[in-house]
Amino acid sequence: MQINPLSDILGAEVVGLDVGNLDKANLKTVQEAFLKYHVLVFREQKLLPEQQIQFATNFGKLDVHIQKDNQYSGHEAMQILSNKKINGKYIGSPSAGDAWHSDLSYTDIPTLCTMLYAVEIPEVGGDTEWSNMYKAYDTLSSEVKSRLKGLHARHTFNRFRNPRIEVPDVYKGKGKERYVDVAPPDAIHPVVRTHPETGHKALYISERFTIGIEELEEEEGQLLLDELIAHQKNRDFIYRHKWSQGDLTIWDNRCLIHLACGGVPEGQIRHMHRVIVRGDKPF
Ligand SMILES: [Fe+2]
Repeated sequence: MQINPLSDILGAEVVGLDVGNLDKANLKTVQEAFLKYHVLVFREQKLLPEQQIQFATNFGKLDVHIQKDNQYSGHEAMQILSNKKINGKYIGSPSAGDAWHSDLSYTDIPTLCTMLYAVEIPEVGGDTEWSNMYKAYDTLSSEVKSRLKGLHARHTFNRFRNPRIEVPDVYKGKGKERYVDVAPPDAIHPVVRTHPETGHKALYISERFTIGIEELEEEEGQLLLDELIAHQKNRDFIYRHKWSQGDLTIWDNRCLIHLACGGVPEGQIRHMHRVIVRGDKPF
């Protein structure tokens, strides 16, 4: 097994390891690399759904996503992200992750890590970007850092309540219930969270899910969010991944935000299998 950094800011590829066939020593190396690089890309994997699910359980208890319509049949822990259509209907979520976010931050107990496996990859588009929220926090001025102390942010799944993002056409009108009816109650989390394993501080807000700051007046909170959201998208914190078929990525939602870059031309297919591992309550 070889571990090669993918950038200076985050990410490493793991070469020469079959994650469907992992011994204890390799698992320990992988878990350490995960905390060090935040994103791992396991190259050239050939994984059945049950093998990906089995590998994910090494990191914690699996979570079931609130959106049931993209579940892999027979495996409730697995979701399909895909722009493939059968009889005119998408067989998975075609637009997941199109605004910067940390997975499930709109719930009380958000996701520890996400595992995404590239089954089919388009020739053009479909990249993923991650931004390092340790770095985003570390590079704030000491004045802003002290301003953030003790602040909490409100996170919601419901796109209709977030003026910073678009609602895709497919979810307007009749599709509205996706965001309105299935949305869980808002979650309130610290604006700066402490990573439970490394002890480092990370900025924990996002354009997709964060809609206000609890302790501040509406306008003041929105201005602060504008400032923080612009800061967390600084290119210096970001690694962009161009997928290869067979890549299995795992990323740490406690210290990263991510974005599905889109741009897949009509007629090309992007088909992925996703599993999420439940984390703990941010503090
Ligand atoms: Fe995501």
